[in-house]
Amino acid sequence: MVYYIRFLKTPRFQQQTKSVFISALICITTDLGDDFLAEDVDLTATWVQHASHKVRYQTPVKWLAGSRQLPILLGPFAPKDVAGQTAALKIQLSDVEKDILEKHTTPLVVSGCSAPFGPSWEPAEQLIRRDLNIASTVRPLRIWEETGNSIARHIWDAALAAVIFLEQVITGTEKSMPALSQSLTPRRSPLQVVELGAGCGIVGIALATMLANCEVLLTDLPEVSEIVTRNINDASPKPSASIKFQTLDWDEPTPNLTRGPIDLIVVSDCTYNADSLPALVSVLDRLVRGSPGAVVLVALKRRHDSEAVFFDLMRTAGFVSQQAQVPLPAQWEQVDQIEMYCYQKASGVEKGA
Ligand SMILES: C[S@@+](CC[C@H](N)C(=O)[O-])C[C@H]1O[C@@H](n2cnc3c(N)ncnc32)[C@H](O)[C@@H]1O
Repeated sequence: MVYYIRFLKTPRFQQQTKSVFISALICITTDLGDDFLAEDVDLTATWVQHASHKVRYQTPVKWLAGSRQLPILLGPFAPKDVAGQTAALKIQLSDVEKDILEKHTTPLVVSGCSAPFGPSWEPAEQLIRRDLNIASTVRPLRIWEETGNSIARHIWDAALAAVIFLEQVITGTEKSMPALSQSLTPRRSPLQVVELGAGCGIVGIALATMLANCEVLLTDLPEVSEIVTRNINDASPKPSASIKFQTLDWDEPTPNLTRGPIDLIVVSDCTYNADSLPALVSVLDRLVRGSPGAVVLVALKRRHDSEAVFFDLMRTAGFVSQQAQVPLPAQWEQVDQIEMYCYQKASGVEKGA
């Protein structure tokens, strides 16, 4: 289980007598926000100048096992040193070697950077940015997520695993799903990709960052529109790759999503709610009936037994799958396995068969 640094109180400049401080309150918690990191970890808090990215001040801080929150205080600074400043606060692992998402894994603790704050005393927006190095060949992926507990507007563990898995398939180090590998090989016409329940958009955006000549359509409920648009605007897609967002509610009739047939459908961490699974599978069924060659990649972190109904529904809809696993780090040097399924329609199998 990966742990994410989150702001419980986003940073701001704070005046105390004749000095100014930067203050914030953080925690280190799971994607679900239901558990706190129970290991000591050394962190570095850095005041970064917003426009120039220049480091203005840096200090070590320590998260102790058993904590539920950690106050951050940088300073004191002379008022003249902060006057007119727009800042951002980065909280990252002190051991930079461990602070990367490459070599086919993630760090146990995912670092973050605040939205800009200052020069007024107002706190930063309730957002945190993850800068993820997915491969040495591409620029770090910048993904904003909300600091609160919204299900849709932050990154889930299966998404990190899906990004790692797609990178391995694209670079040819992962070959266990030939249909997926085939769909991700260079082609003449752009690869048509649709992501369902995209949340912040991390998986689809990562794909367009790694793969030239693809058109990625991220879909989700209207509530993600603002955060996903921010992430699309900050993205650096490969040449001739594009990323768009369209609202799509699985409970509503499915509109036409792409100009031509869909090649790849991505679904990450969307099986946690058994009540929504019939609607999700029904959308997958409808999309693949319209694009019979489509491959569906499902990234899944098992959270409870009720999710098993997803596999029955997919089988009944005529899907067959290949399976792989991506290990993510967990506390005490343990490993958490995230499941990857590559689904295709079995030829000649109709729904209900
Ligand atoms: C746990 S989040 C996963 C987000 C993202 N895929 C990730 O892995 O980081 C599940 C996503 O499914 C979306 N979702 C749930 N029910 C939905 C529905 N009926 N129609 C469309 N999206 C839905 C949620 O809005 C949410 O963004």
